[in-house]
Amino acid sequence: MLPPILQNLRIPVVASPMFIVSGPELVIAQCKAGVVGSFPALNAREGDGEPPLLDAWLTRISEELDRHNQANPDQPAAPFAVNQIVHRSNARLERDIEICHRHKVPIWITSLGARPEVNAAAHDCGGIALHDVINNVFAKKAIEKGADGLIAVAAGAGGHAGPQSPFALVQEIREWFDGPLLLSGAIATGRAVLAAQVMGADLAYIGSPFIATTEANAQPDYKQMIVDGGAMDIVTSSLFTGVSGNYLAPSIRAAGMDPAQLGAADAEAMDFGGAKTKAWSQIWGSGQGIGAVRDIIPAAERVERLVTEYRQAKTDMTRL
Ligand SMILES: Cc1cc2nc3c(=O)[nH]c(=O)nc-3n(C[C@H](O)[C@H](O)[C@H](O)COP(=O)(O)O)c2cc1C
Repeated sequence: MLPPILQNLRIPVVASPMFIVSGPELVIAQCKAGVVGSFPALNAREGDGEPPLLDAWLTRISEELDRHNQANPDQPAAPFAVNQIVHRSNARLERDIEICHRHKVPIWITSLGARPEVNAAAHDCGGIALHDVINNVFAKKAIEKGADGLIAVAAGAGGHAGPQSPFALVQEIREWFDGPLLLSGAIATGRAVLAAQVMGADLAYIGSPFIATTEANAQPDYKQMIVDGGAMDIVTSSLFTGVSGNYLAPSIRAAGMDPAQLGAADAEAMDFGGAKTKAWSQIWGSGQGIGAVRDIIPAAERVERLVTEYRQAKTDMTRL
């Protein structure tokens, strides 16, 4: 049984948090369209001496969604989620947890480390915590440390993807875990959302297709590269963040590098403090599912298409 907060979505989809790309415009559009919208807390970066931008973003998101709900009681917005990078290089974690707790963020998504105190903060303000994992061992650890649900990040996902097949990953986790399970990795159509459910997941976790939306905080060339690209254009490398991730080969070529000869970075080089992110700002992340993305459209339209495809896929299944 899913927690009430994850029920009643238009389609069982959580729009995943994306570094730089996901901000309030995209999150608000996703939630109004009926899927959970999310952003990494680290995307809200204020200038030196300015008040925390995260505070302002959370106020704006809550107020706009409240207004929408009052005007549309029959079609209320989906809840939103904030992603915390739980890694020692994230010097803001404690401050961001306090801000999210104060704003009573309903869904907390944690990545790159499971910490009981983050889950406790989510629970204390009435929220739930979902932790993303790339294998069954990390999945068990996350639940032991108090996460309510899991995001299985399989091969082909944008950002820090795992190496495992979604079939293997979901099957191993479902052997012992019957709580909320989201599946991530190259899910880009309503048919694939249904496939994730058939495999045993409760919801799909979708990132890259939302880069090609009008509300995404991405350069026009990046959006167009998503539209033009397909699975063959995605390369896996640990060079850019110290963790294996999936990137658009054309953006690597445009930066003067050969995608076939990237080499690896030391995991110790992982840094979410900000210094390195600028150096790689023209290297663009993406999952393998973008062959299904053919145009740059408003997020609501992307969701609408997923809903139509999902319904059609369900009808088609009855013919099997
Ligand atoms: C450009 C980009 C940035 C991402 N940044 C983050 C991030 O900051 N935190 C996080 O937990 N996941 C991040 N991810 C991973 C997504 O949350 C999610 O796992 C992934 O997008 C799902 O695969 P898909 O892109 O094939 O749909 C990012 C993905 C992309 C494409």
